[in-house]
Amino acid sequence: MCGIAGYLGPKDAAQVLLVALERLKYRGYDSAGLAVSEGGSLHLRRAAGKLQALSAKLDAQPVSGHCGIAHTRWATHGPPEERNSHPHLSYDGRIAVVHNGIIENHAALRRDLEADGVRFASDTDTEVIPHLLAKHYDGKDPLQALLRTLAMLEGAFAIAVAFADRTDRLLAARKGSPLLIGRGRDRPLRPGTQERQYTDGGTPWGERELLIASDLPALLPHASEYLPLEDGEIADLGPHGVRCYDFRGERREPRWRPVEITASAVSKGNYDSFMAKEIAEQPEVLARLIDSRLRDGRLVQPDLGIDLATIRHVVFLACGTSWHAALLGKRFLENLARVHVEVDISSEYRYRNPVAAGNTLVVAISQSGETADTLAGLRLAKSKFLPVVGLVNVVTSTIARESDGVLPLLAGPEIGVASTKAYTAQVMALYLFAAQIARAKGLLPHDAEDSCIAAARAMPDLVARTLQLCEPSVEECADLYAAAQATVFLGRGGEHPTALEGALKLKEIAYVHAVGYPAGEFKHGPIALVTRHLPVVCICPRDAMYEKMLSNIQEVKARAGRIIAVGDGADRDLRDLADQVLPVLRASDELLQPILSILPLQRYAYRVARLRDCDVDQPRNLAKSVTVE
Ligand code: F6R
Repeated sequence: MCGIAGYLGPKDAAQVLLVALERLKYRGYDSAGLAVSEGGSLHLRRAAGKLQALSAKLDAQPVSGHCGIAHTRWATHGPPEERNSHPHLSYDGRIAVVHNGIIENHAALRRDLEADGVRFASDTDTEVIPHLLAKHYDGKDPLQALLRTLAMLEGAFAIAVAFADRTDRLLAARKGSPLLIGRGRDRPLRPGTQERQYTDGGTPWGERELLIASDLPALLPHASEYLPLEDGEIADLGPHGVRCYDFRGERREPRWRPVEITASAVSKGNYDSFMAKEIAEQPEVLARLIDSRLRDGRLVQPDLGIDLATIRHVVFLACGTSWHAALLGKRFLENLARVHVEVDISSEYRYRNPVAAGNTLVVAISQSGETADTLAGLRLAKSKFLPVVGLVNVVTSTIARESDGVLPLLAGPEIGVASTKAYTAQVMALYLFAAQIARAKGLLPHDAEDSCIAAARAMPDLVARTLQLCEPSVEECADLYAAAQATVFLGRGGEHPTALEGALKLKEIAYVHAVGYPAGEFKHGPIALVTRHLPVVCICPRDAMYEKMLSNIQEVKARAGRIIAVGDGADRDLRDLADQVLPVLRASDELLQPILSILPLQRYAYRVARLRDCDVDQPRNLAKSVTVE
């Protein structure tokens, strides 16, 4: 959590950094700040609250300069107040630091610094870093000061550093938390000369503008290439360009990659929120994903460096929404490939002593690829010599880089904090992966493979039509129940994960207490909650559990609960039982039905949140990438 950014180049640093923070605010948004180095001083602006507060402060007290760092915060140490906002300054005001992660030995370092007379201005763990840097900085060699400081820090961090006496230098370092360096295009040569064209009259920042960011979208539109820092790597940005070192000061060769996403992929376009845009993007996301897994109309065996035919057990590691997708992955693998599957919540797996049976494949599922608990689970699995595949959306992420093989989701940047398009892409990717394993094991004859492919290929259109079909009823239900204090979601079989996911969406963006339950289990206690004021969302498509689900709905109806059913809009029995029906179309393979069933629930959460005046893209207390434990 937290987003960091840095800029060194001819443009106005504060303006570039504000745009970068806008793109990073999904990582945390309870306060923000920046520091620009100009005229021998660091000019600091910070504000508690959303980014608009910092923007307003900059309007009132502008800063100019071409070299700076910035931060958007998700509080870990200390409440979201201005004094805890980043950047933090050293005791002598010469050094500014922004940080993402946690310095685990900050208390001991703080005690030592205080014993030396340093007065702290914040409650944060971060503040020890600028003070240590100041102690080690002789005014000549910023890199040495950083190396000495890094040697004292324990924990996970990504940091960026600016200096009052250097308007042409930024430092960055990474251990555990993600960090990218970007550089702009080479400037054109003046016609007929070997000189480069500078509109700004000088070259104090070298030939290309340079950037630092926690994530790729924040490097846009300035960077044409980027460099993901490895764990234990430092980047030194200055007129010399970018030099990389390890934490002992040994040079490392930077490996630049082209920036392939565009600025439009990270804007809202005509939508009022990223969440609305990302829900609407699901048909094209699924179509792209399915295409990527097929060649000449057949499933491609993914190049993971693993013989899929030998897999006997699969362990899924995931958190939150990705964990819900994993629950569906279990059904797919059991049904199609007859593989034994465990689904683990990463934060639990990492502290157990899991059995590393032979022929086990671990699949780490993560949209961001940076979730700290999933990453720790991956590392634990690798320490037990288990092969790990990362099912990730962000292919530059740490989980992607540390996995033995990667299954990309290709969903494009997901910026709304509530995961929507990445979820349905995860579910589809897991279905296709199960089919790929089944084929490798000889369990999927040609005609069965053809039906899987046909079922998958029909989904983008079914998703597009379901989104249209359900909207009027979604609106009606949202109007009726937006003020409800609580909502229960019930489903069976493949729709149990849908119930969990529907409840999570409503909780996280509309702040409605919601719980998802397996419908058959409801009578063992929670049914006591039912009153005529309680909306109960019953997910009841015409699948193998349909009859059982109808009986469970009867049980709720008998206790006067308000029934919102998700299912076939033309189903008379369902219509007779339910107060409202959110209609969904039918997938030709019922394993894929949950992709359709979740759509009205994503839209329902969105509409209820809007009616309750909630910020759907930036719900309170949350952040998109959970890079702390
Ligand atoms: C909910 C949501 C979270 C994430 C979870 C894991 O809408 O987005 O529950 O699913 O934090 O994140 P990733 O998938 O990035 O590991």
